[in-house]
Amino acid sequence: MEKIVWDEKFKIGVEVVDKAHEKLFRIVNRLFDIPEDEMNYQHTYKEGIKYLEAYSMKHFSEEETYMRSSRYSGYARHKKIHDNFRDEILVSLKKDLELSNYSVSAVQRFAGIMSNWLVEHIMREDQAIVGKIFSPQGRDLSSQIPAISRTVNRATTEVFQVEVRLVNPLYRGQNIGNGYYCYQCFDVEGGVKLQILLGVEESLILRGIKRLRKAQINSETLLQVFEQLFTQLSRLFRAEPEEKLTKENLLTLEGYRAEFMKGYPCSLLYSNKVGHIAFCHRNWRVRTAKS
Ligand code: FEO
Repeated sequence: MEKIVWDEKFKIGVEVVDKAHEKLFRIVNRLFDIPEDEMNYQHTYKEGIKYLEAYSMKHFSEEETYMRSSRYSGYARHKKIHDNFRDEILVSLKKDLELSNYSVSAVQRFAGIMSNWLVEHIMREDQAIVGKIFSPQGRDLSSQIPAISRTVNRATTEVFQVEVRLVNPLYRGQNIGNGYYCYQCFDVEGGVKLQILLGVEESLILRGIKRLRKAQINSETLLQVFEQLFTQLSRLFRAEPEEKLTKENLLTLEGYRAEFMKGYPCSLLYSNKVGHIAFCHRNWRVRTAKS
């Protein structure tokens, strides 16, 4: 495990939050150092971890105040993550440290877990407070969201005559209820593949069918309308219509979850009073023997 290096990319642009994050990096990094006092190093470690805990709680509280003051819509979810860190993660990690009597290797492991958690949390959750969404590779995806949202709405309006709004820009694959799921993969030029994953709650499709005044509502009509939406969405989403469709599957809920777990950096959840739509996409370059 290595120390974490503070970088501009971690900044969210809110001074009190950025300063605290930078300080947390320093506190965690100190835990990677092996104390010189060989007789009493456990005490040094315990004090360092106590300080990390106290400072993290102070930071969470300040960050939560900022989220409330800026009326951040993801406040409740974000606070839950902080609470879970305090009540579950930290408690269980401290138990392991106690069991090992704060051995050097246990503290180094603890510091490694802390630094991973901190980096992941800042890049995914804290950046979202100011509307930034990053891919796991650190690419800022936020700028894509307004265009995707317009595309989703255009497709739902054309097919269902209903509009939806973005309710979660960091959708994590939560169950959207009884729904229809589909996956498509396209070959884009330069060896890049585009994958789209869509889930639509059945209640939304039913509303669409009623609006379309289809005479019969059965599983076949539901599927037809779902496919119509998916085709339209995927057509509007792709930059070049001639991108070659190489794979298309209707998925069960289990299949959808398994596909989602492969990692979709851009995963968005839309909703209206009737139901939800999950829209996820990713691009990836196919490795060749030479690359
Ligand atoms: Fe900076 Fe959400 O903790």
